[in-house]
Amino acid sequence: MGEARTYASAVLRRGRVPMEPADFAPDWADRPRKGKYYPNAPHFPLPDGPVAGNAEREGVGRGLFGPGGEGGFTLELLGGLLKDSYGLTGRRLAVQANSDLGTLPRYPDANFSRGTASGGGLYPIGIHWVSGASGPLTPGVHHYATPHHAMRRLLTGDVTADVRAALGGRAEGCDQFLVLTVKFWQNAFKYNSFAYHVVTMDIGALLETWRIWAGAHGLHLGAALWFDEERIGRLLGLSPEQEGVFAVVPLRWAGAGTGAESGGLPTGARVAAVERERSRTVSTFETVRRVHEATLRGAAEPPADGVLDAALRTAWQRLRAGAGPGSDPGSGLGLEPGAVLLPVPEPPVLGARAALRARRSSFGRFTGNPPMTAAQLAAALAAADAAGRLAHCQEGPQQQPLTRLHVFVNHVAGIPAGAYAYEPQKPSGPSGPSRQPEPSEPSEPSELAGPPEPSGRAGWVLRPVRLGPQGWFLQRNYFLDNYNLEQSGALIVVSAPTPAVLDAVGDRGLRLVNAAVGAASQALYTVAPAVGLACGVALGFDSVSYTEHLGLLDGEELPLLIMMVGQEHRSPADFDYTIV
Ligand SMILES: Cc1cc2nc3c(=O)[nH]c(=O)nc-3n(C[C@H](O)[C@H](O)[C@H](O)COP(=O)(O)O)c2cc1C
Repeated sequence: MGEARTYASAVLRRGRVPMEPADFAPDWADRPRKGKYYPNAPHFPLPDGPVAGNAEREGVGRGLFGPGGEGGFTLELLGGLLKDSYGLTGRRLAVQANSDLGTLPRYPDANFSRGTASGGGLYPIGIHWVSGASGPLTPGVHHYATPHHAMRRLLTGDVTADVRAALGGRAEGCDQFLVLTVKFWQNAFKYNSFAYHVVTMDIGALLETWRIWAGAHGLHLGAALWFDEERIGRLLGLSPEQEGVFAVVPLRWAGAGTGAESGGLPTGARVAAVERERSRTVSTFETVRRVHEATLRGAAEPPADGVLDAALRTAWQRLRAGAGPGSDPGSGLGLEPGAVLLPVPEPPVLGARAALRARRSSFGRFTGNPPMTAAQLAAALAAADAAGRLAHCQEGPQQQPLTRLHVFVNHVAGIPAGAYAYEPQKPSGPSGPSRQPEPSEPSEPSELAGPPEPSGRAGWVLRPVRLGPQGWFLQRNYFLDNYNLEQSGALIVVSAPTPAVLDAVGDRGLRLVNAAVGAASQALYTVAPAVGLACGVALGFDSVSYTEHLGLLDGEELPLLIMMVGQEHRSPADFDYTIV
């Protein structure tokens, strides 16, 4: 078994067999900052982005479900993308069920909100902008300082040829890049060996915000997850055991020429600016070191076209055939008893910025009364499903999904409580007593609905795995006490065939799978406020129990994240501390 598979398996079983070091306790007084700090680097303030532009008119639905556009970036758009995704937009002061509630009003413990969710609220991703001659600034390397919404200059000079070389010819003609890194300590000080699992999902969540934001603004992003990581790490002056490079995102700049200005040879230059760590003691974790090292092997050679799709096709066929009831859409011509044909998804009604600003975790505020609607559930599932396809990653599959969804229905009007498999497929005509949720909706999505037909299929179906109330199972297998899961309208489980992906594309595939899961979570967080729902996601659950309960093939299809949606208590106590 390869290192990544061993790691994924240890994560899956950690509810039964704790990961080492089992006796680890975070030193909160010595915690790191939420972001890298370069004290001597000059600031360049960024614009806040377009106000009430097309994106606000066309809405977040276009970003979530539409194709990307052909537009080019400007400084204003770049500022907006960063502000709405990772910039600080407010302070969390509402009353909720997390254990840190009492400390939040103290400024040193302040929790600032951002458009993107992050495991544990730690925000460990470093965003770097490597810009060449076609951009608005003197070419160089900048780091995005989230507290100031500013770029800090780390290096002056055009080093974009070094990034192009690291991408192995996949970005010829491009001289603007966003480079995402993770300094492991920023997460591992709390989650130790589990950190790699969380941060790789964080990367997916941030890239998904960018996909949504770009799509809503008529732009398209194609992130690369495979590249010569050592070379880019060297350029940024990183120490590979401390900080990894997880994604390189080429930006098409408005008005950039045909690429003539992006010639030149790699310089071999290296950022000399020194970052200042806040923690007096920084620990490294052997498990994190080992799995990270494994994902570096073959980093510069992206998987050949079609390899991932072929592996996923075979895997999904096998997994569906081998799994319990509800899993095999090919097993019958019609719908089995208890299956539910979902209605047209509720169209999202917010703009991209408004949806990202409204996004937040519910943390214990769900109420099952009144229930959510089936159309809201359909929208939530469609958004998560679309995101799990990783259409915005160069190495993502072309046809096959990386993830599959199951849903535990607790309080959805017209849908009986139970655990279901979500199958976005066109049924060929009901043959059994399948039901349609009340109030009745057209059985097929209309052209006018926000979410388009996923993969050209026109119907969304819930196939029963276990009928009856599921609240007891959900709460018994949840590690924390900050949610009453039974009070959510529905709980969505994201699973993925991690071992099959690793076999096909190597250990770096762990990043790909987890990016897809992170993307699904961020899509759900973003669609939720736009269709009138509250949302929350969690890694703290016993995956082994979920595998058994849903009848998944043990060790082959891994339940990786649970995501809750539903209604909240009316007027929960809050304090409006909006920054912009
Ligand atoms: C990959 C990932 C894993 C998460 N895991 C949990 C979790 O186990 N429990 C939980 O209550 N919240 C979890 N969250 C939600 C974060 O705690 C939350 O996004 C963060 O604290 C910021 O709060 P906000 O979403 O309200 O802005 C997770 C989020 C992500 C993206």
